[in-house]
Order: sequence, then structure tokens, then C-alpha cells
Amino acid sequence: MSDYRYLTFALGKGRLANKTMELFEEIGITCEEMKDKSSRKLIFVNEELKLRFFLSKGPDVPTYVEYGAADIGIVGRDTILEENRNVYEVLDLGYGRCRMCVCGPASARELLQHHERIRVASKYPNIARDYFYDKKHQTVDIIKLNGSVELGPLVELSDVIVDIVETGSTLKENGLEVLEEVCPLSARMIVNPVSMQMETERIKDLVNRLRRRLSS
Ligand code: PRP
Repeated sequence: MSDYRYLTFALGKGRLANKTMELFEEIGITCEEMKDKSSRKLIFVNEELKLRFFLSKGPDVPTYVEYGAADIGIVGRDTILEENRNVYEVLDLGYGRCRMCVCGPASARELLQHHERIRVASKYPNIARDYFYDKKHQTVDIIKLNGSVELGPLVELSDVIVDIVETGSTLKENGLEVLEEVCPLSARMIVNPVSMQMETERIKDLVNRLRRRLSS
């Protein structure tokens, strides 16, 4: 083991990282340093297994992996689709399940059916563009927002939104509904293409162990 180079993992901060470390523990990969929540350290190491972990904002995970600053990343499929980086997606981890949807007031359903030029607010402009332009062949105006996207139709900034729906309660509490489903989402493991070649055995072994754990 001591001859190995470090394998570096970039984890999307928050619930996803916590879930990931729980899963890793189940297959014998631990990182004690990471459990100290008061620590301001940014990089955590497991010397014995030659693994390094760091936490970053979700949208930065594919960037670190594309440039090889991390060999492996764990991030939501929404971020992978939106960032569209040159990385391999190797495993569906199954948690963080939710849906990317077109949502709005019931009255907007008709606008979607008649392919009208509507305004679409989203934190995911690339996903929204791919969906409306490439899949539906509908010309729309896309407005990028950074959060609380449900406000869009409420304050008449947009006709609809493209956003993540998990329990549906945010929509319900604001009088909005799912109008169309864009795609299902969950946490995924991504790998740098060069790392995949250089560290094939270690990465394949990790993926196989995780896959077995997830299916048991
Ligand atoms: C996400 C998403 C929805 C909400 C959906 O927002 O953008 O607003 O969660 O969850 P629900 O279907 O269970 O209600 P998040 O809390 O990440 O914050 P944001 O709106 O600032 O992006």
C-alpha cells in the first residue's frame, strides 16, 4: 500500500458528503479527521489507505475532477449535467434521489403544450436549454437564478421554472406544481479520464465494492 500514490476525492459539501462517508465506512474506508465538525481543515487524509478527501461546493466538483485535481468526485447528477465537464460517470450511488422538473402554476400547462415563447427561470440554465431547445424544440427565454427559484412565477419573473423536486412540499406551499419531468436525479461517482487509465485497478475495485454494498 505504501507505494501507492494518493487517490483524491472531491465531495459536494453537505448531506451528500455525509451520506458518502457513511457508505464508505460500510466498505471499510474511514476518515477520522473528517468527523471533527469544528475543524476548519479543507483536506482530510487516510494515510493507511493513501486516500485524500476534500469538500467543495457541488458545482466545483466536476471542475476539480476534469482538471485531475481530484481523481474521483461525488456529486448530484443535476450538477454533472449542468457543468458538462469531461469526466466519466461510473456509478449511481442511489441516494439524493429527486427529479428535475418543469414547474409552475397549473395555468402554465397550456403554454407548454402550445410551444409558446415563454420565460423559464432556473439555477440550471444548461439543463433548461437542452430540454426546451433539443428535446422539445421550443424556443424559450432562460433566466438564470441562484436559488429560491420558485419565486420566479410567483413574482411574474417567469412563466415556469426548471428545478429540483424532492418531496414536492416547496411547490405545494407556493401553489405551484410539476408540469413536466425533465429527468431523474441521484448522487453519482465521477472519475477523471486519466486517473481511470492510471489507477484502473484501484478505482475498479472501489466501484465494485461500492456496487456490491449498494445492492446488498
Ligand atoms: C431545492 C430545490 C427546491 C427544493 C425542492 O432547493 O431548488 O427549491 O429544494 O425540495 P422539495 O421538493 O422537498 O420541497 P434548496 O433547498 O437546495 O435551496 P435553493 O432553493 O436555494 O436552491
